Amino acid sequence: MIEKTYTMLKPDAVSAGHIGEIISRFERVGLTVEKMELSEVTTEQAAANYAEHEGKPFYEGLIRYITSGPVVKMVLSGESAVAITRKLMGATNPAEALPGTIRGDLGLTMDANVIHGSDSPESAEREIAIFF
Ligand code: RTP
Ligand code: MG
Repeated sequence: MIEKTYTMLKPDAVSAGHIGEIISRFERVGLTVEKMELSEVTTEQAAANYAEHEGKPFYEGLIRYITSGPVVKMVLSGESAVAITRKLMGATNPAEALPGTIRGDLGLTMDANVIHGSDSPESAEREIAIFF
């Protein structure tokens, strides 16, 4: 099914100059960049995006990190866009992400794990409304 997903290149990806590299990977599999913006995440947007994690031990650090510098916000579309994007991203922890995945190749820590991607079409719809 053709669907949309929300993806965000985190501050470490932007400061390391990996924007082009990551977008190339999405374009290479045939996903389409529908919307894109480089800007900072407000505290309100961060809290809304990560509402499911409120109260967890890593929550405060996560909000601080995602608001610490510019990010690239993107809407991608295509066949199975959510699943394809998650597969290319790799495991959440870069130490466990396989080589060849975005986090496996470009990430180092749980905070600086390069990229966020929606985990379902419903999350995508919610997150797109938060950021665009
Ligand atoms: P994301 O939402 O960023 O696409 O990644 P995900 O679904 O693979 O991971 P999720 O469980 O939703 O966690 C969101 C972000 O929170 C940070 N995190 N830290 N220290 C920890 O135990 C921990 N767990 C999660 C990560 O930066 C993760 O991307
Ligand atoms: Mg998640």
